[in-house]
Amino acid sequence: MTLTAETLADRSATPRAADTNARILRARFRRLYGDHPDCEVILARIEASLSRHRAGRSADLLALDAEIQAQPRARSASGQSVYTFYVDRFATDLAGLAARADYLEALGVRWLHPLPLLRPRPGDSDGGFAVQDYRQIDPRLGDMDGLEALTTAMRGRGIGVILDVVCNHTAREHAWAQAARAGDPRYRDYYITVEDPDDVARWETDLIDVFPDTAPGSFTPDAEMGGHVWTTFYPFQWDLNYANPAVFAEMLDVLLYLTGKGVQGFRLDSAPFLWKRPGTSCRNQPEVYWIVEAWRAALSIVAPSVVLIAEAIEGLEDVLPFFGGEAPGCDLAYSNGVMTALWGALADGEAAIATKLIAAAAARPDGANWLNYVRCHDDLIWNALAAYAPPEDLARWSRFYDGQGGSFANGRAFQTAAGGVPSTNGMAASLVGLEDDPTPDGLAAKRLILLYAIIHGLDGWPLIYMGDEIGLMNDEAYADDPLRAVDGRWLHRPTMDWNRAQLGRAQGSVGQGLFGAMRHLGDAARWLNDLGIAGRAIPVPAGEPAVLSFAREAGTRRFLLLANMSDRSVPVTVPQGYAEARDVLGMADDDDGTRLAPYAVRWLVTP
Ligand code: GLC
Repeated sequence: MTLTAETLADRSATPRAADTNARILRARFRRLYGDHPDCEVILARIEASLSRHRAGRSADLLALDAEIQAQPRARSASGQSVYTFYVDRFATDLAGLAARADYLEALGVRWLHPLPLLRPRPGDSDGGFAVQDYRQIDPRLGDMDGLEALTTAMRGRGIGVILDVVCNHTAREHAWAQAARAGDPRYRDYYITVEDPDDVARWETDLIDVFPDTAPGSFTPDAEMGGHVWTTFYPFQWDLNYANPAVFAEMLDVLLYLTGKGVQGFRLDSAPFLWKRPGTSCRNQPEVYWIVEAWRAALSIVAPSVVLIAEAIEGLEDVLPFFGGEAPGCDLAYSNGVMTALWGALADGEAAIATKLIAAAAARPDGANWLNYVRCHDDLIWNALAAYAPPEDLARWSRFYDGQGGSFANGRAFQTAAGGVPSTNGMAASLVGLEDDPTPDGLAAKRLILLYAIIHGLDGWPLIYMGDEIGLMNDEAYADDPLRAVDGRWLHRPTMDWNRAQLGRAQGSVGQGLFGAMRHLGDAARWLNDLGIAGRAIPVPAGEPAVLSFAREAGTRRFLLLANMSDRSVPVTVPQGYAEARDVLGMADDDDGTRLAPYAVRWLVTP
């Protein structure tokens, strides 16, 4: 028998797996929309669309699917490094990005996550998070053929491409919104318009502003819509109405369309906000998790190798259900609690808060994993730690990274919801104080490497934010650009400095030190996974408040990470069972085994 797309399709989605996923999809869809008059019609349409997409899947994508089906755990296995960046700021456009493949390969990344690159509204688009057309690329960056060429070329190097799916809202310039404004009842029901100002006020009492200074409130009056349109984020970002099954089907179709272009993963942007319910904060409602489970099931029928990542910057109890309940959900979720806690611990020179959050993160289910990170394109939200630290701790960290009180950090306070503490903006290199201490062996560089060494040692995927690998600092120039000046997050969205990257190759430069460290850490994280060290990070008492210490013991070899969060040399006690272990990183200065130098980190692995 010759292998055609048809026959491969049959092998890729084994009948049993396809049946199970079809059952999950139907069950979740009916749970969500059973009462809606169009429920069964739309479900039938979705099922027809899934068959079409499955039949049309290309042979090499089916081969990837087959690999994952043979080893489902591999989809989210630890140690797969991700690089995230804005395409224009990293490499001008998609062609420029393809031309940087050698750089990315040298860094050792397995995944690329370009921030939103689908066609945004003109003008301010919240960094691309206001999509005007999900089936077109931002014309400044290229076109759909260019995306397909990129995913194909990267696949050839073993690198997958993850795209944002901005699923909570569209730009108000999107064709659906335009049709809604023009009075088409079908599309009016794609959005949420509240007519009575008293009702708006009632909703608002329970909602939490995301951008209280620059976009207060969650509604925007719109004469053509005849009321107040729901806009959680900026007024030009119109929330979709997921109570309408047609919206669910449209967004699923977007996912399927993009998988056909070779996209291998999706970051579900603002996932907590998809479902609105009176009397609640309209975040993390049970329906949100059912939607994610239904999308996962649909993707598993068509493109089982595709990964889903939840962007839910919420408390852990609200993040965990994104991994799924009775059915699988997202493969990964941003580990925002651990990330924020690491910065808190660094400010304090004490590991306590990081230890607490790492212990809590161990509650993730098997078969799902964390996306571990140090920085991303958004602000650091201290309020997300509210369940784990008293308000005075949050306030102290917020002040510290705003550079107050003799701190080493060069960050800046950002807007926050009423009652919360200001969030923080700034590149990681600035938050560790690289401006004032730019040498390769200085404490600032050590802090940055320390944080990255920790996230590479945790269970999950380590994420590198563009520029951190060469110590790129804050971009003050955003303030001169009227389109960006209003949003302080642009402070940490600089243009890639290729000069610095070049110079960074010079022996002894801070850039070289950092780039080499990132590469080394990526290699080490993959090696750990290959060794079978796949367990969760579990804190182990280190007997010294400055030392963060966790073990990952599932597997034949055991792993212990020891990290000094302070600028002092401190004693360490290696716990029982690790006497024979050796440091596989070789990045700690003093290697007599009894002390840890300032910000030093060791990865001990038993023979
Ligand atoms: C996500 C993005 C953020 C954006 C928001 C609205 O949180 O990461 O940058 O502003 O969604 O789309």
